Amino acid sequence: MRLIVLSSLVAFVSAIPFFTRAERPIYWLLAGDSTTAPNGGWGDGFLSTTVASGSSGHNYGHSGATTASFRAGSDWGKVVKDIGTYKDKYDVYVTIQFGHNDQKNTSGVSVEEYKTNLKNFASEAKSAGAIPVLLTPLTRRNFNGAKVTENLAEQRAATISVAESNSIRYIDLNIASENYVNAIGKTAASKYNLASNDWTHLNEWGGVVFARIVSDLLVKKFPELEGVTKANATMSALIAEGKPA
Ligand SMILES: *[C@@H]1O[C@H](CO)[C@@H](O)[C@H](O)[C@H]1NC(C)=O
Ligand SMILES: *[C@@H]1O[C@H](CO)[C@@H](O)[C@H](O)[C@H]1NC(C)=O
Repeated sequence: MRLIVLSSLVAFVSAIPFFTRAERPIYWLLAGDSTTAPNGGWGDGFLSTTVASGSSGHNYGHSGATTASFRAGSDWGKVVKDIGTYKDKYDVYVTIQFGHNDQKNTSGVSVEEYKTNLKNFASEAKSAGAIPVLLTPLTRRNFNGAKVTENLAEQRAATISVAESNSIRYIDLNIASENYVNAIGKTAASKYNLASNDWTHLNEWGGVVFARIVSDLLVKKFPELEGVTKANATMSALIAEGKPA
């Protein structure tokens, strides 16, 4: 009897380091443009509804940002500084989502430069001690007939190509969000608009719904995130079934 108690105690104690390691909370650093930023993006909804207790983060999404201005305007410097601050107590994940502004012909950023900039963000995040994840850009929700106009395909392909050729983690938010918006249709999609004619930016509830898409993609691809994520099975089911959430 005593022997059994002792050996189970030994097993328990020796398992503790692994247990605590797996339970390390996450610090999320969200890098991106207005489609991630407060007041228009999914970032604040992500931090407030998908992050489990003990984990935390900061939304560095910056309205109008390109992969070039995000660095030049010192947003990226703040992300790297935060990695240093939080990496001892948390596993730090950096989501990186750009394209909406880079693609404009006035951006001064070519597709090749966009790819190089994404690659540099990921490698600098990794060297600083974080786990970078590239996100293909959130779809716009402008309909042409029954379907959303797909106008970020080049940035989607570029992001995936950078991720695959450099072994960087990524999720395909562009296609997932586009499929969802196509499934629910224009009238339901309009309920997520920040202003009635703004088919790019999200109102608060839209931010929560598209954050759930981001979170579900992350957990599906990187199952270790499940324990540090707050689920909403009802909303995830509606999204998976292509119904308005
Ligand atoms: C840039 O894009 C705008 C809007 O799509 C277009 O009207 C304009 O002709 C383009 N300019 C150049 C130099 O390609
Ligand atoms: C979960 O999702 C449902 C369906 O969208 C929603 O009504 C509900 O408010 C969500 N629950 C929480 C806690 O966010």
